[in-house]
Amino acid sequence: MLALTTMMALPTFASMTSTVLITGASSGLGEEFATRFAARGENVVLVARRADRLETLARRIEADHGVTATVVAMDLGVPGVGAKLRTALTDKGITPTSLVNNAGFGTHGRFADEDPERVAAEIALNVSALVDLTHAFLPTLTGALINVASTAAYQPTPNMAVYGATKAFVLSFTEALAFEHRTSPLKVLALSPGPTRTEFFDVVGSEDAAVGNFQTSEQVVSTAMRALDSRRTPASVVSGLSNKISAGSVRLAPRGLATVISGRLLKA
Ligand SMILES: NC(=O)c1ccc[n+]([C@@H]2O[C@H](COP(=O)([O-])OP(=O)(O)OC[C@H]3O[C@@H](n4cnc5c(N)ncnc54)[C@H](OP(=O)(O)O)[C@@H]3O)[C@@H](O)[C@H]2O)c1
Repeated sequence: MLALTTMMALPTFASMTSTVLITGASSGLGEEFATRFAARGENVVLVARRADRLETLARRIEADHGVTATVVAMDLGVPGVGAKLRTALTDKGITPTSLVNNAGFGTHGRFADEDPERVAAEIALNVSALVDLTHAFLPTLTGALINVASTAAYQPTPNMAVYGATKAFVLSFTEALAFEHRTSPLKVLALSPGPTRTEFFDVVGSEDAAVGNFQTSEQVVSTAMRALDSRRTPASVVSGLSNKISAGSVRLAPRGLATVISGRLLKA
């Protein structure tokens, strides 16, 4: 009886306050991640630069799902962003238990013609911020760490050379972290979407960079949620059957051939 009472008094995983920190929550996949985690009863912290978008989303999430949605408007593409965001959240009494490193953008065109500042910002956000945020929040994560990579991670991507390389970094980094945490309860997942209907290609400035069939944000985030819910969460998952097939076949093909095909598909 005593044992039963003690068991009942203990918080279950579901009843403990869990908070998901989502970067790039002002549109696209980040907005969808925020809505889906909130629908599961998790508090969310929404981070991106556009405060008005985040505030509107936060109010909708709180009204629809009865959880707390906290807004932090911040440019993540600056050095030391992990410590900066952790301090901002500590001041609000928030300790994230899951992290979705989703903020990112792409550039398109021959590398020699690209704006060096834009490329540096791309690396700063897609790679440096993701690593820094992961390091800053990893000690308190007990739920999930999701890093958003891309099918562009699976082969060199001529005419999107830097973007593909940043996503190859994310995939490799995350698969390595998943191994390091294989015996811990933390689920570490690299999510690789193919072309998805978000604001991504508006920012890129061209749909020439879209190879394959478009998915919706709902479909892509569902892929991640299914992977998290599975008994053995994989280290990485590609969203969409045709994307899975092409990423899988690229891994079997000679690297030179994969580069030629990718270079022909990703028009300059
Ligand atoms: N859509 C696709 O086809 C596709 C395919 C593969 C992978 N992905 C990846 O999916 C992730 C999400 O992209 P998406 O498709 O949802 O595109 P999106 O709609 O353009 O969303 C990008 C998000 O990143 C935020 N962001 C951009 N720069 C930022 C900065 N300096 N500081 C803070 N936040 C910043 C944006 O918010 P603010 O502008 O308000 O800051 C926005 O919330 C990215 O990592 C992208 O590389 C997308």
